[in-house]
Amino acid sequence: MILVAGSANLDFITRVPHLPRPGETVLGPAFTTAPGGKGANQAVACARSGHPTRFFGALGDDPYAAPLRESLCASGVQDTTLTLDAPTGAAFITVADSGENVIAVASGANALLTPEHRPDFTDVTHLILQLELPLVTVQAYARSARERGVTVVLNAAPAPTSPLPAELLANVDVLVVNEGELSTLTGAAHGGLSEQLHAAQALGPGTVIVTLGGAGSVAVHGGQRIEVAAHPVTVRDTTGAGDTFVGVLTGALGEGLSLPQAMREASVAASLACTREGAQPSMPSRHELDRALAQGGVGAGL
Ligand code: RIB
Ligand code: NA
Repeated sequence: MILVAGSANLDFITRVPHLPRPGETVLGPAFTTAPGGKGANQAVACARSGHPTRFFGALGDDPYAAPLRESLCASGVQDTTLTLDAPTGAAFITVADSGENVIAVASGANALLTPEHRPDFTDVTHLILQLELPLVTVQAYARSARERGVTVVLNAAPAPTSPLPAELLANVDVLVVNEGELSTLTGAAHGGLSEQLHAAQALGPGTVIVTLGGAGSVAVHGGQRIEVAAHPVTVRDTTGAGDTFVGVLTGALGEGLSLPQAMREASVAASLACTREGAQPSMPSRHELDRALAQGGVGAGL
């Protein structure tokens, strides 16, 4: 069982020709809503890829919570979210025609989750965490997992505003970041990618994976370096692609796949998620993922 402890947000999505600059107003057709939040997204991606998944998070007692629970349930996620006294998390996402986005998150109930709210670790082999919950809570859950011998996967997103506590990174087994998050963590804006990967590894995690968008992903795993190419796709909306990578990667590791095999599955799944709108609605099923893997990637025939 994979446990994801993290955020759940209702995403309000506006498509525009280009991202507005500060002070600029850009017009788009009509907003849409979709279930999101990095934690819930990763749980949905993991469950759809076929691995038993439990989600722990917090929602408000308001109408925004229902579509989030429905998406978890429809994807086969065991939903153990709490209802707390604050609005359900909401994310305001602007997507440009290029597929790039900017996101502002109103955390609401996610921000009320404390170390005293304890997730159920029964049968859990891997815990996935991100940084949309209070840092003390993320730290406490990583500590509990480590005490139980559970493998801890941290997706250090969104990018932390300052280096993370040493104790948190010491309890992480697998760190997944993009380039910006990696340089924030290591404070090494001028080092090359290899130096930064090794600097992150020196902070505790035995495995560090950096996702590079269209350029694939690179990992250091013990003394080994692994590179996985991306799959050329027509990008429609990158929202949720990173979450898809993390969820599918962890599910594959939970199934006992090697790290290179797990990275390849995660990479194909993330590419598929870029071809469709929204976060959770864009995540592939196991069937779709298998078909893309059999065809040698996403670009071939999809
Ligand atoms: O990673 C994408 C997610 O970030 C969105 O679904 C949004 O809710 C924000 O949390
Ligand atoms: Na998407």
